[in-house]
This record gives sequence, structure tokens and C-alpha cells, in this order.
Amino acid sequence: MKGTWFFPLALLLGLSLALAQEGKAPYGQYCASCHGSEGQGIPGAIPPLAGNPKVEDEAYVVKVVRQGLSGPLEVNGVTYNGIMPPLPQVSEAEARAIAQYLKGLSGTQAEAQAPAPQVPGDPALGRALYLGQKALQNGGAPCQACHTVAGVGFLGGGSMGKDLTDAAKRLGGEAGLAALLQNPAFPVMREAYKGRPLTEAEAAALAAFLVQVSQEVPRPSSLYLGRFLVAGLVLLAILLLYQAILWQLRPKSLSERIQSQLRR
Ligand code: HEC
Ligand code: HEC
Repeated sequence: MKGTWFFPLALLLGLSLALAQEGKAPYGQYCASCHGSEGQGIPGAIPPLAGNPKVEDEAYVVKVVRQGLSGPLEVNGVTYNGIMPPLPQVSEAEARAIAQYLKGLSGTQAEAQAPAPQVPGDPALGRALYLGQKALQNGGAPCQACHTVAGVGFLGGGSMGKDLTDAAKRLGGEAGLAALLQNPAFPVMREAYKGRPLTEAEAAALAAFLVQVSQEVPRPSSLYLGRFLVAGLVLLAILLLYQAILWQLRPKSLSERIQSQLRR
């Protein structure tokens, strides 16, 4: 009866291999857009999953997928501080299968797939794109619609997204930012640029612009206060003018109409 242990073992091996393959499709569907087709991640922006020792812990992977993750973490000596949204659409079984699949990805394989070095960006072009002075080639919204950057543009821009003044410092410098911008990890931005991706040159230019901004001396906040004051006064003037016009155009009352008839 020498061979009897062999069958269950082979079954187990086959099963785990099957399980690993089972995770490939949901990985491609739910994770690859951010973590890369081979789990290589984006240096400085999105951690790699291939060759990441923490991925050996299946329960951890499932927890991150179901609950999301934010805050600083380190993988193979590179620090990351991003936001992964919770993905409730991934079932626990799928998350387990994905975890199995990830264990099988080796880091070396992923390195071969790492993105090619970025073309150097033109910060002046980046600034124009950021402000919307130059339209994005694929028709995406200008960054200023949602973001602020110290001292750029009237009132500094929108407040939906983060202030990007020090984004370059936090997100892996020019290369990290350029990669991130071509594949934004933030749900709102993903939606905004879905089907309207930034070109490689645009992403590089914007990254170069943000690096430049991060190196400038931050402006005192009193400057913003001054701008708010001016904006407030302008708004007030517009409102007063509007009211005056409304008053001129108001429907005349019956007695007023009779009076003007009598005056004729
Ligand atoms: C919207 C982009 C995005 C998607 C989609 C996404 N992730 Fe993430 N993931 C991130 C970011 C960003 C981080 C880093 C979070 C941080 O810095 O705290 C991260 C971190 C992780 C970590 C922790 C790594 C570590 O070293 O601690 C795991 C595990 C992980 N993701 C697995 C997955 C899996 C599995 C999927 C698919 C089911 C997935 N992620 C989908 C962006 C994403
Ligand atoms: C529709 C609104 C919107 C537009 C347009 C937009 N973003 Fe964002 N962006 C966001 C949101 C929301 C976040 C999520 C991070 C946060 O603000 O909390 C974000 C995050 C970022 C981050 C990471 C910030 C950080 O420090 O973690 C960068 C960098 C960034 N955006 C750059 C850009 C650039 C460059 C453009 C123009 C090409 C742009 N965004 C256009 C909404 C937008």
C-alpha cells in the first residue's frame, strides 16, 4: 500500500493549482487596473502584490479587499501612502481565490513587466493643462476643477480633491505621479477620466509641473484670505447689480399702471 498517500496529495496539489488559476480572472477584473496586470504595482504610488511578503497571509488580503486600506505602509523598502477603497463587490470566495493566485506570482516576473521609464515632462505644458488653458487631448476635465495647488489660479481651484502642493513628495516624485495619473487610483478621478485617459506626454508634463510646485516656497495663507475677500466683494457687487436690474424689470402693479395712464 505504498502509493495510497499519493492520490490525496495529488488531489490537494491539483486543487490548490486550480484554486490559484481560479483567482486569475477576478484579479484581472478587480485589481489589475491599479496593481498592474502582473501585480507589479506602481513604484511609490501603488504597492506591488507580486513578491510582497504580506500577500502570503490570505486573511490579510481578504480583509484589505473587503475593508480597503489607507495609511503608510512599506513593501520591499519602498513606502506607500495611498488609499485603496473597499471592494464589497468582490465576494469573500473570490478574494480568497485572488489571494491564492497572488501567492503564485513571483516578484522577478513582475519586475520584467514594470513600466518603461517615463519621458521627461514639460512643467510649463503641465501648468497649462492643469489650469485648463490647454485642453487635454482625450477631453478629460482640467485638474483645477477639483484640485488646488498653492498659489496657482484664481482662488486656487476646486475643493473636491486634495491640495496637490506636496503630492510629488508623497507619491513617488515625477515617475510615480506620471504613472498614477495615467491610472488614477481614486474612485472619483477614475470616473472623471474613464474613457478619457491622459496621454503619456500629458501625464509626464503634469507630473513635472507638480514636482516644480512642490519645490516652490509655499505662499503665506494670508494671500488666500485676500483673494477670498476680493472674491466676496466682487460677488456682492454682482448681487447688488442683479437686484437693481430686477427692480427695474419688475412687473408693474395695477395702481402704477393707472398712474402712468393718467400722466399721459
Ligand atoms: C483603486 C485602486 C486599487 C484597486 C482597484 C485595488 N487596490 Fe489594493 N491597494 C491600492 C492602494 C493605493 C494600496 C495601498 C494603500 C496604502 O498605502 O495604505 C493597496 C494596497 C493593497 C494591499 C496591501 C499591501 C501591503 O503591502 O500591505 C493588498 C493586499 C491589496 N491592495 C490587494 C488588492 C486586491 C486583491 C485587489 C483586487 C480585489 C486590489 N487590491 C484592488 C489600490 C487598489
Ligand atoms: C472630478 C474631480 C477630479 C479631477 C478632475 C481630478 N482629480 Fe485628482 N483627485 C480627485 C479626488 C477626489 C482624489 C482623491 C484624493 C483626495 O482628494 O482625497 C484625487 C487625488 C489625486 C491625487 C493624489 C492626491 C494625494 O495626495 O493622495 C493626485 C496627484 C491627483 N488627484 C492629481 C490630479 C491631476 C494632475 C488632475 C488633472 C489631470 C486631477 N487630479 C483631476 C478628484 C479629481
